[in-house]
Amino acid sequence: MSVAPQPEWLIEAVGLHTHYGASHILKGIDFRVGAGETIGLMGRNGMGKSTLLKSLMGLVKPSGGKVHVKGRDMTGAPAYQVARLGVAYVPEGRGIFGNLSVRENLIMAARPGVRGQTDWTYERVLETFPRLAERINHGGQQLSGGEQQMLTIGRALMTNPDLLILDEATEGLAPLIAREIWRICAVIRDSGISSVIVDKNWKHVTQITDRNVILVKGQVVFEGTSEALTAQPRVLEQHLGV
Ligand SMILES: Nc1ncnc2c1ncn2[C@@H]1O[C@H](COP(=O)(O)OP(=O)(O)O)[C@@H](O)[C@H]1O
Ligand SMILES: [Mg+2]
Repeated sequence: MSVAPQPEWLIEAVGLHTHYGASHILKGIDFRVGAGETIGLMGRNGMGKSTLLKSLMGLVKPSGGKVHVKGRDMTGAPAYQVARLGVAYVPEGRGIFGNLSVRENLIMAARPGVRGQTDWTYERVLETFPRLAERINHGGQQLSGGEQQMLTIGRALMTNPDLLILDEATEGLAPLIAREIWRICAVIRDSGISSVIVDKNWKHVTQITDRNVILVKGQVVFEGTSEALTAQPRVLEQHLGV
């Protein structure tokens, strides 16, 4: 198979390997996201989901294989260069500027997208996240966990990305707040932004994704549509603990 960058993919891993020291974590992963696609990335704890995202983003250096972003070889390139190509990444465990207000957190991130698009404005983010509008002058530190998560997603949208990567965005949130995050994921999908969603709740994931990938010990063990996945109770049971 050719490993030349394919421009039709927004982001692509080809035969990707990643080590932490002597630990071999990713073992030859092929993973791709096309324009407008919503992809679910699932698997039990410690299977390599976050490591794959970090390797794609340039936060961890792969030890083999390739990372392509929009047809360019970005293997081992620093994260800011990947971000500049229109990829926004919301890591596990949030990370907002606690000493800045909600308004400042959002405005600081604002920029047009790579294609010059300004679909996501400050006003539209606040319309999409009414809870943030209510807290607009609060400091980041005063927000609840769910509100902080909304702020990190809102901040990512302010960069007008082509691809949004969400790592465990609903982790540890009350069910009502998690449901609000899922609603927002659907709004983002409907706005034409591609996304990669890592989440433990396969029922919610498959309701909004086009395609799903399951990792076991750093390898892809399943790839298919949401219909294909939900039709396979054994795969769900074996790899997602249902
Ligand atoms: N910074 C690190 N240094 C060493 N090992 C790590 C590091 N981060 C993750 N790991 C290990 O890599 C494996 C995959 O972790 P991770 O990608 O976080 O999995 P997941 O996101 O699927 O839960 C785990 O065994 C984890 O302990
Ligand atoms: Mg993880």
